[in-house]
Amino acid sequence: MRMTVIGTGYVGTVHAACMADIGHQVLGIDIDAERIASLSAGRAPIHESGLDELLARTVASGRLRFSTSLAEGAAFARTHFMCVGTPQRPDSKAADLRYVDAVVDGLAPHLRPGSLIVGKSTVPVGTAARLAERLAETAPDTEVAWNPEFLREGSAVQDTMRPERLVVGVTSRHAEAVLRAVYTRMILDGVPFFCTDPATAELVKVAANSFLATKISFINAMAEVCDTAGADASVLARAIGADSRIGPRFLEPGLGFGGSCFPKDIRAFAARAEEIGAGEAVVFLHEVDRINTRQRSRAVDRARRLLGGSFTGRRIAVLGAAFKPGSDDVRDSPALAVAAALHQQGAEVRVHDPQAVDNARAAHPELAYALDIDKACEDADLVLHLTNWPEYQDIDPAALAALVRSPVLLDARNSLDPRSWSAAGWAVHAPGRPRLSSTTPSKAKAAALTGGAS
Ligand code: UDX
Repeated sequence: MRMTVIGTGYVGTVHAACMADIGHQVLGIDIDAERIASLSAGRAPIHESGLDELLARTVASGRLRFSTSLAEGAAFARTHFMCVGTPQRPDSKAADLRYVDAVVDGLAPHLRPGSLIVGKSTVPVGTAARLAERLAETAPDTEVAWNPEFLREGSAVQDTMRPERLVVGVTSRHAEAVLRAVYTRMILDGVPFFCTDPATAELVKVAANSFLATKISFINAMAEVCDTAGADASVLARAIGADSRIGPRFLEPGLGFGGSCFPKDIRAFAARAEEIGAGEAVVFLHEVDRINTRQRSRAVDRARRLLGGSFTGRRIAVLGAAFKPGSDDVRDSPALAVAAALHQQGAEVRVHDPQAVDNARAAHPELAYALDIDKACEDADLVLHLTNWPEYQDIDPAALAALVRSPVLLDARNSLDPRSWSAAGWAVHAPGRPRLSSTTPSKAKAAALTGGAS
C-alpha cells in the first residue's frame, strides 16, 4: 500500500520505517528540510534501539522516501498518517493543536477524492470530528480516522512491529478496511484489533496514559506514607503487586514519571474534560500530577537534609539525566529537574548519563557533566541515583566508595541493591524506605571509611 507519514518526530520516524519494513510504499514528510535530508541519507533524528538499521534498510530498499512537500504527499497516496506533536500550550494546560491543524490545512487543497487522514498524535477527544468539519468545504470527500500510538521510547520499533493492541476509530467501513489492510501483518500475528468510533479511539490513548500515571503516583504516595510511618514501600509494592488484579508493573516507588507524554497528556486530558463539562470525573488527575512533581522536590529536600541542611560548597554526583533508561530524551526529565534544582540551590553538581549528556547540556548548560561514572563521583559528598540505567547496577560500590568524599547514596529510583552498597560502607537512602537510613554512618565514620576528611 502507498501511504504518507506526516511529521517525522519520534512516532512518525518509527511508524514510517516500520510500515516500509512490512512492505508498504511510504513517503515521510516534514517541514524541517535538514531533518528530511538526514532521514533520506538513512540517519535517524533520535536514539532508538534498532531504528538506525531499520531506516538504512528501508531507505535502501526504495520503499521509504522523504519529502518536505504535502502536495507531493497528496499526489503519492490517499492514506495519510498524521504524527505531528501536540505539546502543552504555553498559556494553559491544554494541548496545542496548531501543528495538527496546519497539516490538515496544508493537505486539504491537494487531497484527491477518497483520501483518508489517520491521526496518530495524542489529541483532545473530539479532534477528529472537528478536523472532519474543517475539511467539509475544502476536501469534502476525505475521512478523518484516529489510530492512537502507544509506543514507548526505548522499545519504539518493537512496540510498533508487535503492539499489544491496535485501536482505530473510523466513521466508515472503507476506512476500517484500509486500516485492516495497513496492519494485516500484525492482525495475522494475533494482535487484538479494536475498531471503534474516533472519539473512543482518542480517549483510549489518554485513558491508558492516565491509568499508568495514576499507578505510578499511587505507589509514590504510598512511599510518602511509608516514610512517615517507618514502613517499607518496596515490600509494600511487591506485596500488593502480587495480587493479579493489581500487577507489579509501573508500581515502583521512585522519582516519578517524566518524558514527552505522561505529564502533558494527563494535563491536556483534564483540561479537555473541563471544556466538555466532565472535569469533575478526572479531578484526581490534578492530584496525580501534584504527587508526581512533589517527588522531585522531596528528593531535593532529602539531599539537603543528608548534607546537613545546606548545599553551599557541597559536591553532588548525579547518576542519570534521561527521563528513563534506554532513551536520550530529557524532556520533563525528573532526573534533570532535580539536578538543576540542586545547582540552583548552591550545590556543585556533576551529572553523568550514558546517552543523554548532549541533550542535557543543551537544556541545562549551567550544569557540569562527566563522561564516566568515576569522574562524576570524584570527591562527591553525596551520590544521587536518578535514572535506572542498567550501567548503574554494575557499579562496584566498594571501588566507588574510595573515590567519594562521603559514601552517602540517595537511590531516588529505589533500584540499587541496598545490601551490597551498605556492605561496602555506604549510607543508603531511598524513598519509602526509612529503615535503610538507620545504616547512615556518622560523618566521622564516613571519613574513616574513605580514609579522608568528611
Ligand atoms: C509512555 C507510554 O507508556 C506510551 O504508551 C505512550 O505512547 C507514551 O508515553 P514513554 O513516555 O516512552 O511512554 O515511557 P514509559 O516507559 O511509559 O515511562 C514513563 C515514565 O514513567 C518514565 O519517566 C518512567 O521512569 C516512569 N515510571 C515508570 C515510574 O516512575 N515508575 C514506574 O513504576 C514505571
